[in-house]
Amino acid sequence: MSGFVRLSSGQKMPMVGLGTWKSAPGQVKQAVLTALDCGYRHIDCAAAYSNEQEVGEALALRIGPGKALQREEVFITSKLWNTKHEPEDVEAACLTTLTDLGLSYLDLYLMHWPMAFQRGKELMPRREDGSVCYSGTDFKETWNAMESLVNKGLVKAIGVSNFNAGQINDILRMAKHKPVVNQVECHPYMSQQALITHCGSLGICVTAYSPLGSGDRPWASPDEPALLEDMELKGIALRYKKSPAQIILRWHIQRGVSCIPKSVTPTRIEQNLKVFDFSLSEEDVSLVNSFNRNQRFIVPTVERDGKKVWRDAEHPHFPFHDPY
Ligand code: A2P
Repeated sequence: MSGFVRLSSGQKMPMVGLGTWKSAPGQVKQAVLTALDCGYRHIDCAAAYSNEQEVGEALALRIGPGKALQREEVFITSKLWNTKHEPEDVEAACLTTLTDLGLSYLDLYLMHWPMAFQRGKELMPRREDGSVCYSGTDFKETWNAMESLVNKGLVKAIGVSNFNAGQINDILRMAKHKPVVNQVECHPYMSQQALITHCGSLGICVTAYSPLGSGDRPWASPDEPALLEDMELKGIALRYKKSPAQIILRWHIQRGVSCIPKSVTPTRIEQNLKVFDFSLSEEDVSLVNSFNRNQRFIVPTVERDGKKVWRDAEHPHFPFHDPY
């Protein structure tokens, strides 16, 4: 099993990258250094994670002339945030990310969500009642502006994140540069088989975010199941003498899904890359497939009339009303 996936752009993307969402300031720099030093060649970033400057400090220490790594040896992804969907804001947003990361180009730039928020400096523009201010900008216009970034050499390839199958089709109908990746929530409780098959038939690779179930998501509630504590998963891990996290990551890889586990713990960062020296039997891949419960952990929720509801569900481009 190769440690790379070939994107439709021709680029080779390492199957395992370091995730940086939720990595706190003061911790993410060391996490990136640890990752690069133990062999990671793929780092997943986003403007919305509010830590790209610190990621950039780590990259500057390891990448460049006379340093341990050359720029072309590391695959770096970032994402355009929802408040930057106006076509005239797209290049400036990309340039800010490039400055923060200290890079002259990105390997991959993703539209973080199909939903546009009101433009401006606030990551989460809100009304007084707390509701988010949306914008009517269509993601196809935003895509068009992202295509110019490829033409200008600021990014090698572009893709999407959190897009459903219909939205992918909408992009493909007008795209001059096809999306090479759709990055979505994916783990054994949310296996995304239909979306993966759809994307695969179109030559689009799926990257799993929250590949381990993101137990550290800010809105985690104790009544939700903890994936890494799943007893059946632990049973498989015992049989292979691997950790539950390694079993999950190996399952992603054997399905052809690249993944970006987040950790700020050196031993875990190292462990999460040690998934190329064993393989799961077909039966065990099927067993992990059977854990699926279509359970999304990553949809911000709000309280309305005493009930928890999905925050952006009324946005016209909210992606999760469709089954996939
Ligand atoms: P930490 O960062 O404190 O090491 P996801 O990638 O699905 O978002 O999951 C991230 C969560 O999983 C974090 O809480 C992270 O903890 C934890 N984690 C990452 N790798 C491992 C591992 N190998 N074993 C146990 N927990 C892990």
